[in-house]
Amino acid sequence: MALRSLVVLLAAAAASSSAANIVVPRADDSCPNKLKVSYEPPVAAEGWQYRLAANGFKKPRSITFDKAGALLVVDSGVGVFRLTVDQDQGGTCVVTSQPKKIISSTELNHGLALSDDGETLYVSSSSKVYAWAYDAKAGTVGGANRTVIANMSSTDKTTRTLLASRKQPGMLVVSRGSVDDEDPLARNKSSGHSQIRAFDVARLGDKDAAYDFMDGVLLGWGLRNSVGVAEDPSKGGIWSVENSIDELTRNGQDIHQDNPGEELNYHGRLNDSSTAKDQGGNYGFPRCYAIWNTTNFPSLGSLTTADQFPGPDDAKTLSDDQCNKDYVAPRLAFQAHTAPLDVKFTQDGSNALISFHGSWNRKNPTGYRIALVAFNKATGQPSAAHDSMTAAVDVLSTPDLANCPDGCFRPVGLAWDSKGRLWATSDSTGEIFVLNQNGTADDGGNSIGSRSLVADKAAAWAVVLAAVVAGFFLA
Ligand SMILES: *[C@@H]1O[C@H](CO)[C@@H](O)[C@H](O)[C@H]1NC(C)=O
Ligand SMILES: *[C@@H]1O[C@H](CO)[C@@H](O)[C@H](O)[C@H]1NC(C)=O
Ligand SMILES: *[C@@H]1O[C@H](CO)[C@@H](O)[C@H](O)[C@H]1NC(C)=O
Ligand SMILES: *[C@@H]1O[C@H](CO)[C@@H](O)[C@H](O)[C@H]1NC(C)=O
Ligand SMILES: *[C@@H]1O[C@H](CO)[C@@H](O)[C@H](O)[C@H]1NC(C)=O
Ligand SMILES: *[C@@H]1O[C@H](CO)[C@@H](O)[C@H](O)[C@H]1NC(C)=O
Repeated sequence: MALRSLVVLLAAAAASSSAANIVVPRADDSCPNKLKVSYEPPVAAEGWQYRLAANGFKKPRSITFDKAGALLVVDSGVGVFRLTVDQDQGGTCVVTSQPKKIISSTELNHGLALSDDGETLYVSSSSKVYAWAYDAKAGTVGGANRTVIANMSSTDKTTRTLLASRKQPGMLVVSRGSVDDEDPLARNKSSGHSQIRAFDVARLGDKDAAYDFMDGVLLGWGLRNSVGVAEDPSKGGIWSVENSIDELTRNGQDIHQDNPGEELNYHGRLNDSSTAKDQGGNYGFPRCYAIWNTTNFPSLGSLTTADQFPGPDDAKTLSDDQCNKDYVAPRLAFQAHTAPLDVKFTQDGSNALISFHGSWNRKNPTGYRIALVAFNKATGQPSAAHDSMTAAVDVLSTPDLANCPDGCFRPVGLAWDSKGRLWATSDSTGEIFVLNQNGTADDGGNSIGSRSLVADKAAAWAVVLAAVVAGFFLA
């Protein structure tokens, strides 16, 4: 009897392991980089490999590569670090140097950008943007900081994302969020809250006073907290990803689990006045929000995903129609609370990679992934329809969200290196990953994810077998 059940179980094991197509662990990963994550590793989509490239940071946020190929990292509350790739065997097999702290400051917390010529480094605190002369060859900043933009203080949303335009060199785009979840002052354009503005920072001499945030060219307002901002290198379009409100009701019903959607918004081109109509508009917050999930949505009417509707404070004075006609709706919406924090286009403009930091106030966690949104190269707009719910396709994701937020990677900053690899920070775990698409099969990088899963499965089978064998002897 027991022997028969052992045979049945072993047969079942063999069948299920081939059905599940379990990856055989690679014993011959020759890459000298042996860094491993200490939690359930994220899993790369087919065609992608990834590897842990560096760890030991406190809260790494934005990253960028300098002209010498070194990676600059803002470690929030610590300063700016520079690390080099000391060994590069191609694919994801990189060995990075010990990070060198080039700026020490507890104030710097998120934004980072290098000027087009690579010789000025911009880093933000919650209230200011500072500039330093930067020498990529030496890997050092020179002299004292200069304040280039000031007066952005606020207590709640404290990141000031920086984007140095490549199409209009000298222009620095700065994104400033709301002061609270639902910020009444953001209704007033003169408050400067929840806005993206562009500044001609190249014009500022060493002795010039800083710009006030209100001096910038308004690219958009009513943008609750657009932490990710990018310029499409192919078409020149400025795009942002917005983190929408946490708690929301409609007709008195709590709809916050699946609404409102996070947003992908368009802001025209900096170098092209014909797109001025796409700039300076009000994108809705805190009056109008984008719908994500239409199922069981109260008074849905003719709304589809990514259309706008009024929040509870404005439902009496604004109609759904007005929210779509008088305010700028997103080009695409994403799952509520996924928290998109960065966006970076591929060089040819065919894809935008987005980091989704992950939810904290949803019953079932969501996000904790890097995803790809396809763009139409001819139009410079997303390929997916406005109301698509499948536009963001996972590249690196967390299979078991039950351990989030504590036992999960939480992607923030993204940057491409000169070999077309995507680098990403994870702030909660203090790590930096490198991702590569279409690498050779013997890269081995993917095995960080698959290997540990294999190890888990092997361990599970060992338990099953041990139980069966024990049962056999007990019988
Ligand atoms: C900028 O320089 C001033 C004056 O030396 C200094 O007090 C401040 O801490 C510096 N800020 C940063 C972020 O380094
Ligand atoms: C809008 O904000 C500005 C700047 O804080 C302030 O001077 C003005 O009174 C505000 N307007 C309204 C209508 O609240
Ligand atoms: C910041 O705002 C204050 C008060 O409105 C103003 O006096 C100061 O000039 C502003 N700073 C800059 C750099 O514009
Ligand atoms: C703006 O940049 C785009 C992309 O590089 C380029 O095709 C276009 O000619 C530029 N427009 C102007 C007005 O310079
Ligand atoms: C939308 O909500 C319904 C009902 O709560 C749920 O079954 C469905 O999975 C949700 N769809 C998405 C894409 O979130
Ligand atoms: C990887 O291969 C896919 C499918 O052939 C292709 O669409 C994609 O552009 C390739 N990516 C890179 C970075 O070569």
